[in-house]
Amino acid sequence: MVKFLNEVNIDGKTLFIRVDFNVPMDQHRNITDDTRIRAVLPTINHCLEHHAKVILASHLGRPNGKRLEEYSMGPVARRLAYRLHKKVIMAPDVFGPEVDKLKKSMKKGDVLLLENLRFYSGEQQNDPEFARELMKGIDIFVNDAFAVAHRAHASVEAVTHFAPVCVAGFLMRDEVHYFHKSMEDPARPLVALIGGAKISGKLVALHNLLKHVDKLIVGGAMANTFLKALGYEVGKSLVDDTLLKDAKEIMRTALKKKVKFYLPVDAVVADKLDKQAETKITPVQEVPPGWMIADIGPATVTLYGEALQNAKTIVWNGPMGAFEYDAFSRGTMAMVHKVADTYALTIVGGGDTDVALHKSGELHKFSYVSTGGGAFLELLEGKKLPGIAALENWSNRRQNAH
Ligand code: 3PG
Repeated sequence: MVKFLNEVNIDGKTLFIRVDFNVPMDQHRNITDDTRIRAVLPTINHCLEHHAKVILASHLGRPNGKRLEEYSMGPVARRLAYRLHKKVIMAPDVFGPEVDKLKKSMKKGDVLLLENLRFYSGEQQNDPEFARELMKGIDIFVNDAFAVAHRAHASVEAVTHFAPVCVAGFLMRDEVHYFHKSMEDPARPLVALIGGAKISGKLVALHNLLKHVDKLIVGGAMANTFLKALGYEVGKSLVDDTLLKDAKEIMRTALKKKVKFYLPVDAVVADKLDKQAETKITPVQEVPPGWMIADIGPATVTLYGEALQNAKTIVWNGPMGAFEYDAFSRGTMAMVHKVADTYALTIVGGGDTDVALHKSGELHKFSYVSTGGGAFLELLEGKKLPGIAALENWSNRRQNAH
């Protein structure tokens, strides 16, 4: 059993909080979405209210062990200070004499943000020496970085072998709680709505979902592979020809397990995936050769909406079409409204899907939007996340020692 932040005494203690501040930025390094920063404010504020000294650490992008200025945490420190209404001390490095000096001078209620953990290759290599350095002078390790919990990196895994106390923060607690409510102990019918471009990335998830869900609804370009497997003409649509057999196998398993399986019945088709594309709506039986499926059509939206009507739990991952183009965004946006209008517990995960939610203005109507892309997908695949396993293992080791 993982121990949580509210179960330990943190008064006056030095806390190392692993957060995921891997936020999107434009070419001028302006943060374009600070959801991940806002998501850990409850954890940070709890620590400040309890007079802790707060050291925050994250990765940003993939500098692969090199110190590259464009991956500095500077802009994050500024945005965090704005959100916290509080000074955030920006450390010049991850460790070293200057950082040690800053750590030593910290008073209760101070917030220090370390530089990008991935400036050192030890982070991604789960290097114990790197982890030992990180944990020097730390009383409590708090993992609140759900979005990176699928990576066995030093600040996620190895640190739990050096920190005196290891707990999960409130964001991690919520993520795990909602996932449990959606997949492990769901109110039924449980419906999964799965989209996105590539079936290859979601094959394991689709197989695992069939063990849990009552209905499986597929959209996005990944539906094309299923349609082709059924013998439909899909023109120039994005299809993974190597996975036609797997697609058939998934449909067979669904039938065997009595999982209701839904594919698009019509589509927005285009002569090219481009702003200037010529588009039309056709039944999936009539995709013109040389054209491509770019979005689900209105009949599919109606069908999927009906299938969602009696749902008590909905898990959604992946857009229904190439929604980054206005002309192909209607299917995804329509499904946002359909899901929002149900009485179900609604859980959304994955980078692209939450971009669509933000755009729609209906974010507040969803029960929970995960901050994890890859991590959420790995949970859907039925995998144990190293970040969560490390916290559990620490608790077990401690219990056995007593
Ligand atoms: C994410 O954005 O999904 C996490 O921060 C993990 O980033 P990574 O894929 O670079 O490990």
